[in-house]
Amino acid sequence: MDRDISRNAINWYPGHMNKARIMMEENIRLVDLVIEIVDARAPLSSRNPDIDRLGKGKGRVIILNKSDLSDKALNEKWKAYFISKGIQAVLLDSKGKNGLKGIMTAVNNACAAKIAKDRAKGIVNSSLKAMVVGIPNVGKSTFINAFVGKNVATTGNKPGVTKGKQWIMVNKELELLDTPGILWPKFEDQEVGRRLAYLGSINDEILVTEELAGDLLVALYRDYPKFLEDRYKITADVVDSESEAAFSTPQSRMLDHIAKNRGCLKKGGEVDYFKTAGIVLDDFRSGRIGLITLERP
Ligand code: G4P
Repeated sequence: MDRDISRNAINWYPGHMNKARIMMEENIRLVDLVIEIVDARAPLSSRNPDIDRLGKGKGRVIILNKSDLSDKALNEKWKAYFISKGIQAVLLDSKGKNGLKGIMTAVNNACAAKIAKDRAKGIVNSSLKAMVVGIPNVGKSTFINAFVGKNVATTGNKPGVTKGKQWIMVNKELELLDTPGILWPKFEDQEVGRRLAYLGSINDEILVTEELAGDLLVALYRDYPKFLEDRYKITADVVDSESEAAFSTPQSRMLDHIAKNRGCLKKGGEVDYFKTAGIVLDDFRSGRIGLITLERP
């Protein structure tokens, strides 16, 4: 019964998503270990819980990537959260190549049972097979490049391995499927969609950037007010001020304030909301507002 429901739900996904899902389900069968990449700034919104079902029986490692941009205190809390769920977790900055050292320990811990079983059977030199999965834009390719380095040999068409698959020898202990598996975000949850949009993981072109930036400012004012004060001089006076303008909201008051300070005005003095929103989103995504995590465990 459950199966039918999920099948119907999956039919709502566009064709390419369906194709990616089928390919991933096939590939997962070939590996001992699933390395799931999430965005440390929104570790729940940037993962799809279906991976728990798809990765059942496999070793599991979660990489909290882009941890150079996220809240340091919350990084530790999120890491502890996943470990408490029985999943090895590693904080990483794939772009700056910081944190790579912890990965092999996590991999070996995640596959301890398989390693012990192989040893008991007298198999000593077997390598683990792994694949990287994650929703778009979390840094899967950046991670693979950073982890694998430059001088790697790829192997293909091994017995028992589906034709055409390329395996990268990371080291003596680990082989990695060269193409990451793409998971789909939880489209149906609006809050998730919004957080992914803040992070720039959903195409801006289909969104109203002014609304997005306004809502982001409200969220940041709630959780990181000091950062907004430091970067944009936004204080309670600005957010709570009585305004005579029709439809004035905390969102519009903050955007107005930033626009005036940054000179984002059109001819005639009207606020250029689109430009202002662009500045806010850009500042946020590049970490210029501060090291921020949008959700708490
Ligand atoms: P994907 O395969 O999961 O779709 O993601 P991809 O590796 O293409 O990375 C998406 C963007 O995230 C890239 O930025 C990449 O540089 C950035 N990124 C990946 N890992 C990290 C990280 O740990 N820290 C930071 N700060 N950024 C990271 P881009 O703007 O699309 O490209 P680029 O201008 O950086 O080359």
